Parts: sequence; C-alpha cells; structure tokens
Amino acid sequence: MNHHVQSQLTHQSLVILISGRGSNMQAIHQACTRGALNASIAMVISNRPQAAGLDYAKENRIPTCVVDHHDFTDRVTFDRALADVIDSVENPLIILAGFMRRLTAEFTHRYTARMLNIHPSLLPRHPGLNTHASAIASGDRWHGCSVHYVTEELDSGPVIARAIVPLLRSDTPDALADRVISREHVIYPAIIQLCLRGLIEWQDGHILYCGKRLRNPLLF
Ligand code: GRF
Repeated sequence: MNHHVQSQLTHQSLVILISGRGSNMQAIHQACTRGALNASIAMVISNRPQAAGLDYAKENRIPTCVVDHHDFTDRVTFDRALADVIDSVENPLIILAGFMRRLTAEFTHRYTARMLNIHPSLLPRHPGLNTHASAIASGDRWHGCSVHYVTEELDSGPVIARAIVPLLRSDTPDALADRVISREHVIYPAIIQLCLRGLIEWQDGHILYCGKRLRNPLLF
C-alpha cells in the first residue's frame, strides 16, 4: 500500500455539532492537535449563534457554521439545512457533542453508522436531560457517560463504550457532572479514533470490535 492511500484510510474529517460550551469539541480538537487522533475537524456547526464553543473554534481556525433552528418552521426543514452543510464535507464522521436538538428519522437514517453521540449517563439508564440529578435521586451507586451510534430514538442507539464513575454520598449534580465530563473528554476522542481506524464498526445491527461482535460496551 503506498503512503498516499494509507493516509487516506487513516485520516478522516470530522464534523462536530454543538449547542453550547463545546468542551468535548475542545477535547477532540486537542487530541487531533497532539496526534492522539488521526483526524481533522472540517467544521463545527452550532444551532445556536451564541454557543461559546464557536469562539474556541474560531480562535483555532476551525471553520464554523450556524444553522439557527429559529430560522426554520419545523424539524424536517431544519434537519435538511443541517444535512446540506454536513454534505459539503466529503464523507465525514459526524460527532454530536452537546447538540441539544432532537433529530428527525430522515436525518438519522441518512447518517446511519456515521454519527456518534456522547451522553452523560450509563445508557440505557437516564436518557434525556438532567441525568446527574436523576442518578442521585435514584440512589445509583455508579454513574458515567456513554458513546453510542445515533438512531432515530433519542439516546437509544447501540452503545459502543461507557466510562464509569462512582457516585459519592456527598455528590451534588454539579460535582458529579464535573467528574463525568472529565471522563467524557477521554472516552470520546478514544472511541472516535477506533471508529476512524475501522476497529469499531456497526454492521447489520451489531457493533463489531476488531471484526468480532461486541457483546458488551467497552469499559473505560
Ligand atoms: C456533555 O455532558 C455531553 O455528554 C452532553 O452534553 C454535554 C455537552 O458538554 N451530550 P460540552 O458542550 O461538550 O461541554
């Protein structure tokens, strides 16, 4: 295999979708910069013009685009506009990183097996919002985050990996969130790297790890 072909296979574009501060986006960018992740961020897209993560992206010369959901009357037209922007990048892996919009089935089907999300709970426990408060209120002993493929049902796609943190008696939602987010910043770039290298795939309804069916999510 010549070097040109090899680099095409091992280096890929990411499109990252954010709505807020974008700390996962920053962790991914920093992993790319130090060479831990063989990828480049082709674009950061936000549905909120005021998302703080856009400032970081601009400061680091990452192309940005705002597709403001207020400019659209319904989810279908918003998602189509989003897809038009994503499709201006050649064959990207799409990374949801704190992107706070429900996506239509048309959109999720378009990017089946090419779109990842990180969620701050040990899925399938605590899908949706306020996961840290829910974990505390439920008396859980363990909490954490999950990286999963995106499907049409919110926070329900196949889970690739989880990072676990113990829940402390003294925990407040904010304290717990701080511990979980620091794990998110490790697990997300690591899983993206495995996906880009083809070591993780999703085929025929099953996650494959190194070509073999992954029966339980990877644990960090
Ligand atoms: C993270 O907790 C992520 O798991 C969830 O939204 C939050 C985004 O945080 N989906 P940030 O914008 O990456 O800092």
